[in-house]
Amino acid sequence: MAQITIADLQDRKRRGEPITMLTAYDCPMAALLDRAGIDVVLVGDSLGMVVLGYETTTPVTMEEMLHHAKAARRGVARALLVGDMPFLSFRGSVAEAVKNAGRFIQEAGCEAVKVEWKPGIEDAAKAIVDAGIPVMGHVGLTPQTAAAEGGFGMRGMDAESASRIVAQAVSLQDVGCFAMVLECIPDVVAQEITGRLTIPTIGIGSGPHCDGQVVVTYDLLGLFDRFTPKFVKRYANLSEAIREAATAYIRDVKAGAFPGPSHTRTMPPEEFRKLQSELES
Ligand code: KIV
Repeated sequence: MAQITIADLQDRKRRGEPITMLTAYDCPMAALLDRAGIDVVLVGDSLGMVVLGYETTTPVTMEEMLHHAKAARRGVARALLVGDMPFLSFRGSVAEAVKNAGRFIQEAGCEAVKVEWKPGIEDAAKAIVDAGIPVMGHVGLTPQTAAAEGGFGMRGMDAESASRIVAQAVSLQDVGCFAMVLECIPDVVAQEITGRLTIPTIGIGSGPHCDGQVVVTYDLLGLFDRFTPKFVKRYANLSEAIREAATAYIRDVKAGAFPGPSHTRTMPPEEFRKLQSELES
């Protein structure tokens, strides 16, 4: 299967063919998603909450992101691999934002980076694009600053805040972003943005009228049970499956039922006798 390019995603929007995106933070999960035919693998900074055990995404560092992006790279052959720029990696100087974006490309082998909207982000996003690095924007609920903005609820529920989000999406497109994540905004606002932008929109908790959809893979698989956002559809309950498997293993080891003959290699008797005589001499 041919590798997915940014041009392919833009064609999909023109043809009205939905784009699929999921998160991965390690090689085996990235490989499974890639082989299943996902279009975009996002090494999201949701890493912090679902894998590293942080309360929010704000403690996630560049070094942690790069470590996981490199692992995901080893599993992805076909999908477009996008690295999520963590909090503070693009909020200082523009030069630092370009340097950190470049690390995702040069050190981790990502094809693009994602930045959450913040006031003035356009300068950094433009500089990253001008450096030759494709940028995906992210508007609506922006988890890195959610706590300071009143929590993890919906955004754009009144005309004034919705029109701010529309303007943010347009301004990120204007500086050269190739796609836009729309997180937790009403379906009609997502539809409006999708209609206005020429680049694809990828929704999360923003209804069906986006050019594509993304969710955190651990939510979809039932692997993150601290809380489940309302918009998530669970396709599996792997937490339960893992708990059952671990309980069965513990039971078998305690009962002497594992390892059994089929899991055990023995030594030919003459070799064992030789070993015994060597040990005795
Ligand atoms: O960090 C992440 O996983 C994300 C997606 C939810 C879009 O930003």
